[in-house]
Amino acid sequence: MPLPAPLPVDLSGIRLDPALGLARQLYQALRERILDGRLASGTRLPASRDLAALLGIARNTVIRAFDQLYAEGYVEGRVGAGTYVAELAAVVRPPSALCGAAPASGPLQRLQQHHLGQPLEGAPRAFRVGVPAFDLFPFETWARLSARFWRRPDPARLGYGDPAGDAQLRELVAAYLRHSRGLHCDPAQIVITCGAQQAISLCAQLLVEAGDRVAIENPGYRAAGHAFAVAGAQLQGIAVDGEGLDTAALTRAGRCRLAYVTPSHQYPTGVTLSLARRLALLDWAERQDAWIVEDDYDGEYRYSGTPLAPLAALDRRGRVLYVGTFCKITFPALRLGYLVLPATLVEPFARRRALDMRHSEIGTQAVMAEFIAAGHFQRHIRRMRSTARSRRDALLAGWPRQVPGCAPLPVVEAGLHLCVRVDSLARERELVAAAGEVGVEVNGLSDYWLVNSEVPEDRRAGLVLGFAAVPEARIAEALQALRRAWKL
Ligand SMILES: Cc1ncc(COP(=O)(O)O)c(C=O)c1O
Repeated sequence: MPLPAPLPVDLSGIRLDPALGLARQLYQALRERILDGRLASGTRLPASRDLAALLGIARNTVIRAFDQLYAEGYVEGRVGAGTYVAELAAVVRPPSALCGAAPASGPLQRLQQHHLGQPLEGAPRAFRVGVPAFDLFPFETWARLSARFWRRPDPARLGYGDPAGDAQLRELVAAYLRHSRGLHCDPAQIVITCGAQQAISLCAQLLVEAGDRVAIENPGYRAAGHAFAVAGAQLQGIAVDGEGLDTAALTRAGRCRLAYVTPSHQYPTGVTLSLARRLALLDWAERQDAWIVEDDYDGEYRYSGTPLAPLAALDRRGRVLYVGTFCKITFPALRLGYLVLPATLVEPFARRRALDMRHSEIGTQAVMAEFIAAGHFQRHIRRMRSTARSRRDALLAGWPRQVPGCAPLPVVEAGLHLCVRVDSLARERELVAAAGEVGVEVNGLSDYWLVNSEVPEDRRAGLVLGFAAVPEARIAEALQALRRAWKL
């Protein structure tokens, strides 16, 4: 491959951490150079294609960083005429806390290292991860239920409500979990949250003390790791194999206060935690007097095989906190989820939540309760499951027979994404960047590992593909585009 051409300006020193949002980091690096004068007004920035080649990232990533700089007035330019650093007088300098010296407090410092990347904007594209088929959501029904609630709301529900959540919704969630997961819990054990992320974050705030070690799957859901790290935890990455989290490695890792796991469909590898490992994990928690946070983020999507009982259903010692979400079956922006807690933890969690935000907004809770009670929820789950299955089939059937350096696609029994290994990090980067060039979102598995992971770089390589976000026809188009981009 020819070496990228030298750039007209010195951008040496830009180092992007593949585990964090690349566009955001690039935007920040360029903004910093503009603000401290290293990139003077009028300087022409390199073409997005050249910069992408130099940094080994997708051109779209560079374009997103440029767009953000453009939107904030740091650069100006026209399509085809280049991008220039704006006149400094016209630049609105951000508050000093955002661009000045490193913040002094521990939490602020930890946030510099542990935060979510810029969310991907715009309507979903193939093969975006973490996004369900929200084009199928019955908005008419939701609007009708919503209008009915707001037309004559019961005054008793309009004051400060129970921080644990709306009573009717908690009852319905408990009944749903009983039927769908065999998880027998009392409505009083349920705390309604703003999605799974808030549930995980509450666990971090309340169960972890600064310096505690927290075991997380590696590779795993980085946003959970960030929530624990920001609470002061030392993250301990635990390997995942064909049976899920390696519980022997967990035991060898020594004392941990808590383990965060995704047993029903490991994120992102897609493995199901075996029954033997489930029992070993519960035994570990009991011996270590530790907590288990069980994140069942996409449990509604199982296509074949029998789902195993959640850890929370097997737990006899009150060590498991179960996290569920409505966001993968409805749409992420709904921000509605729940925790099922050991009885002794309900009160502290509700109190903590009250200090944060009192409680979730009543309209969404009440409408969701009605949506479940009237049977729309179950109907919608069936529809979402069968749609995701057929989108999965479209990806599996249309995937190129051989992609050099890439293992064959796995059998996919659950979830909204799949994960496939690639034989080197360089090849992963090449495949991801080429896909980005033709507007197809393909995620590198290497982004899901802890930054300080001891696993050799090439063993972290792979691709993660979400298959549920767009209809079959668009999946077929994206696959065509990939064949072109990957020269197959
Ligand atoms: C493993 C995992 N847990 C939790 C979440 C967050 O879900 P929510 O949108 O409900 O916060 C996600 C979102 O992608 C996820 O992948």
